[in-house]
Amino acid sequence: MPWFLPHAVFSLATLTGFGSPVHRPEVVVGALPKSESPSYALDVAPIVSRSCVGCHRAGGAAPFSLESPEDLTKRARTIARVVREATMPPWFAVLPEGSTHRFANDVSLTAQEKETLVAWLQSDDRPLGDLSKAPASRGLAPEWRIGGPDFVVEIPRAVEIAASGTMDYVNFRVATNFPEDRWVRAWEVLPTARDVVHHVLVFAVPRGTRGPADESRGYFAAYVPGNGSKIYSANRAKRLPAGCDLIFQLHYTPNGRATVDRTRLGLVFTESAPEREVRTAGIFDPKLDIPPGAENHREGALFTLPFDARILAWMPHMHARGKSFRAYRERPLSADATSAADTPRAREILLEVPRYDFNWQLAYEYATPLEVKRGTILGIEASFDNSAANTMNPDPSKRVRWGQQTTDEMLIGYIEYERIDDLSRADEAQDNRDGRESSDIGRSFRRDRAAQFAFLDDDGDNAIERGEGGVLVARAFEAADADSDGRITRAEFEAYLRSRRRAD
Ligand code: HEC
Repeated sequence: MPWFLPHAVFSLATLTGFGSPVHRPEVVVGALPKSESPSYALDVAPIVSRSCVGCHRAGGAAPFSLESPEDLTKRARTIARVVREATMPPWFAVLPEGSTHRFANDVSLTAQEKETLVAWLQSDDRPLGDLSKAPASRGLAPEWRIGGPDFVVEIPRAVEIAASGTMDYVNFRVATNFPEDRWVRAWEVLPTARDVVHHVLVFAVPRGTRGPADESRGYFAAYVPGNGSKIYSANRAKRLPAGCDLIFQLHYTPNGRATVDRTRLGLVFTESAPEREVRTAGIFDPKLDIPPGAENHREGALFTLPFDARILAWMPHMHARGKSFRAYRERPLSADATSAADTPRAREILLEVPRYDFNWQLAYEYATPLEVKRGTILGIEASFDNSAANTMNPDPSKRVRWGQQTTDEMLIGYIEYERIDDLSRADEAQDNRDGRESSDIGRSFRRDRAAQFAFLDDDGDNAIERGEGGVLVARAFEAADADSDGRITRAEFEAYLRSRRRAD
């Protein structure tokens, strides 16, 4: 892959709007008459059933069940604490004032629900009420949440995870050998040792391509605690290109007990091509540069959408120094404006995560997919805490740049989207030749050499000097600077890309 990443990204010089007030609507669900104390059956069980039991049940993602009143009683104090501190349920998005966007997978508790739950846990008698009115137990979680898969790919060998220490990412490549594209209606990544799997990313790449999969390119399937499967609605599916290889990138975090893992990917296919193809892409900031000790360092990236689309979900991705994340769009105020630069634009927040938590890499799925017009600017902004006060920080004295390891950083806003308009068939064919799954965003940028060059040429003097363009340029500087004069000219840039293309 060429040394620029295949998506349009621009460092954001000025970040505005941070810290604007957010507000949590007080939706009153099952409000109680003040005189009565809540009962398990009528008040508590519906809350727990909606917001906890998806994970907290036998065979679920969480380490213990919360399906019965005894389960809750046994852990009353801890539950009251995590609910008050809002560490459970894991949900980190808030709704900005006036926002109309709702998330289909929102498990968060309203203030009223928290109050009800805590009041019951702290009451003397914890009344059960009429148990026949409580939501039915969901029982044992099925092995596959997506139902029986049509096709299962297993990593080629079991991975041994030691009791302690840190592990480099483990990568496996598995051939699929399908003679034609397959349409995936549901996928699930299922580790066997869930307690030590930090994340799994699965990429679909053309058979035999070299090089590591790049996280920023967009993934095919992913597992993070609490979020490892996806079932698309009736007329949507994801394409698994014919004959592609699947690259599994596994990140294990030893937790005191030696174990082995053999992660699988399960797929459910549709018979025919869907009405709408679901794609995944990343908007990202490869030039991030976080000074040592910075408490609230801001970074951001922008992308201009080259087609009409519907965004189905966002998934922010940062590492241990990630502190907050926001996604927004800016629309031209005047519809017939042609130059994006000087047109006043209306900003609208699409996802607001004031407290980002590396341990919970959640996808936020819109209840109603969000239509975005061609020419819309999609932006992400984030803050990082590289100070010693961040207890997750591996090293506050380190200057941090883009990188794969947890000790490096990333800033990616993945979107899951579908196109509304249609690019030409030729584009589709090119896309398939490139084998770049879900790559419309990358494609428009990849073809625009001038934009790429300008993006990397930080000081705009028509040459990329050493130190410009971030780590991606640094890696390839010698190779691209053909005459070794310390500057990559536009001609050298073109020649380098051509040579890479041949090598690929
Ligand atoms: C998306 C899955 C998920 C949901 C939803 C969820 N939990 Fe958890 N919960 C977990 C996992 C996994 C753990 C163990 C890892 C951890 O503590 O982070 C956990 C841990 C806990 C703990 C132990 C924390 C501690 O400090 O020991 C409590 C208590 C808890 N959950 C309560 C709840 C309650 C109450 C709800 C609903 C209001 C809920 N959880 C919703 C996945 C979930």
